[in-house]
Amino acid sequence: MNVASLFLNRDSFGDPANTGNVPSLEEAKRLLDDWVKNEKLKVHMKQVGHLMKAYAEFRGYGGEDVQKWHLAGLLHDADWDQWPEQHCRKIIEELEARRVDPAIIRAIASHGPRYFGVEPESEMDKMLYAFDELSGFVHAYSLMRPEGYVGMEVKGVKKRLKDKTFAAQVSREDIQDACGKAGVAPDELIQFVIGHQAAADLG
Ligand SMILES: [Fe+2]
Ligand SMILES: [Fe+2]
Repeated sequence: MNVASLFLNRDSFGDPANTGNVPSLEEAKRLLDDWVKNEKLKVHMKQVGHLMKAYAEFRGYGGEDVQKWHLAGLLHDADWDQWPEQHCRKIIEELEARRVDPAIIRAIASHGPRYFGVEPESEMDKMLYAFDELSGFVHAYSLMRPEGYVGMEVKGVKKRLKDKTFAAQVSREDIQDACGKAGVAPDELIQFVIGHQAAADLG
């Protein structure tokens, strides 16, 4: 796929008048179940949603903000299963039609700046970009360890990151770029993922 073909060619998402319109978790999960049939992709989206929620709480955000972070993570790849050539245009348009809070839509639009041509700006945008690749990578590592997440260490993850043949589809460059943009050290973020990902509700 030509990378530039996914460019969104716009820099404004959603309507500011819809600020505060945050769908319920039930509504988001219904959309996820309707659109995504691939179980692995569902797990990925739920894990990223969980990390976003946990990180928002860790940063001291409350109620509605935590829900925004959670939903941005949960829905960021909703269109990837059925409409990869329209990723992430289709989910953006769907959320705009549902009059969803623009902060959620913008975070989704900027989760892959190289692919969508939209730079992450808010802390939520930046953390979604950072958790996206790191979450999948750490999950892949957990699957090859007999103990899964138990006893996993940052240095083990970093060793795999250096091994370019392991989870080769995960862009090491994007991980570096995302951590740099978020202003969080990769070690810290890896530790956060190790500490929280196993608790993700995959139901
Ligand atoms: Fe994506
Ligand atoms: Fe993703």
